[in-house]
Amino acid sequence: MKVDVLLGLQWGDEGKGKVVDVLTPRYDVVARFQGGPNAGHTLEFEGQKYVLRSIPSGIFQGDKVNIIGNGVVLDPALFKAEAEALEASGHPLRERLHISKKAHLILPTHRILDAAYEAAKGASKVGTTGKGIGPTYTDKVSRNGLRVGDILHNFEEKYAAAKARHEAILKSLNYEYDVTELEKQWMEGIEYLRQFHLVDSEHEINNLLKEGKSVLCEGAQGTMLDVDFGSYPFVTSSNTICAGACTGLGLGPNKIGEVYGIMKAYCTRVGAGPFPTELFDETGKTIRDLGHEYGAVTGRERRCGWVDLVALRYAIMVNGVTKLILMKSDVLDGFDTIKACVAYKVNGEEIDYFPFDITEGVEPVYAELPGWKTDMTKMTSEDEFPEEFNAYISFLEEQLETPIKIVSVGPDREQTIERYTEEDK
Ligand code: GDP
Ligand code: IMO
Ligand code: MG
Repeated sequence: MKVDVLLGLQWGDEGKGKVVDVLTPRYDVVARFQGGPNAGHTLEFEGQKYVLRSIPSGIFQGDKVNIIGNGVVLDPALFKAEAEALEASGHPLRERLHISKKAHLILPTHRILDAAYEAAKGASKVGTTGKGIGPTYTDKVSRNGLRVGDILHNFEEKYAAAKARHEAILKSLNYEYDVTELEKQWMEGIEYLRQFHLVDSEHEINNLLKEGKSVLCEGAQGTMLDVDFGSYPFVTSSNTICAGACTGLGLGPNKIGEVYGIMKAYCTRVGAGPFPTELFDETGKTIRDLGHEYGAVTGRERRCGWVDLVALRYAIMVNGVTKLILMKSDVLDGFDTIKACVAYKVNGEEIDYFPFDITEGVEPVYAELPGWKTDMTKMTSEDEFPEEFNAYISFLEEQLETPIKIVSVGPDREQTIERYTEEDK
């Protein structure tokens, strides 16, 4: 019996897809527990690049069971496009993929509502991915949602009622829209979805655990986008933290083993909202260019800045992170010096904890470390690490009071270095 959770510690896009793919051979099951097609998880291997949105990143490796859990919100039209593209590229998934009947459906009108609410917010808009995430979770919590299992009985009726309710809201907002094309693709998606294993995934996953199988839970977004602990209201609408794996899959908390927290050697954010260490200068631009920091799905420019250890300490705390994974340090390979925010100055006072509000008046206090000025992208073992890089790792481990167990030095599956001791295995 073993459930490990892998999740993002920053504002998303830390490299979760890549590492889930790397770790998949060690598990029997890979499961997504929250979020939906707002995610874009990139994997690279054998010269090919794939971006997954709703399908777990364990889908490429042999006959692992991949589960889309009840905590996920699923858009059948986008799911169909994603699944068909994977099948066309020679990756069969119909037998491997199991979808919870309790996962909520993103309706075409949820996407329109997402746009309408953003438009109504004007300058204070969240900058959502426009995939209907907020309105779908809102319907779930207000007990108005449609679930995957609903497509099996009296679906037309339930759909018509939900659509009518959404249309009344859109009318009250005076929002102009045309749902015809979206609805057509969505209905095709519903028919396609019927061909998959639609399961009671909470039973399935617990039965597999009883049989001694192991599970890797794949987080989406990141802790700073969590609806409770992120930079509210500039967050997504689900619990991205470790506890989300329990509610999003039907797992008891005592089943959780390792909690892998993923972080970049710097920090990025897409969309609006506070970002204390954001860089508006040439350094920020250099990080964006070298790190190819553009949205995996939308192509939106990601805002870039230095790593924020205050926010990371908070993220490690609320997730109970046991092991850290450091991504994209190769992007800083050429830098003379590297900064890390170790505290905040708020109203002239230095604090080392994450405060209630980081919207205004938070000034980062930086430590400055020497760069390693070495191309690390071809390294395969930590024995090759330059001295300055080892010092940087030790600094992070000390500041974050958590060991860094994996270092990623490039986007490819092979560019991954483990720092495991025998007892970690
Ligand atoms: P996710 O949403 O957390 O899965 O991350 P994304 O896929 O949105 O963004 C991570 C990006 O960084 C992708 O383009 C990856 O291919 C790339 N990437 C992952 N790890 C590394 C790394 O160690 N170095 C570099 N240079 N790129 C990486
Ligand atoms: P992965 O899994 C980065 C951001 C959006 C917006 C906010 C709310 O690839 O790391 P939403 O559409 O969820 O209502 O948008 O959250 N956001 C992400 N940013 N990576 C993601 O996913 C994100 N998913 C949502 O940009 O600011
Ligand atoms: Mg992403």
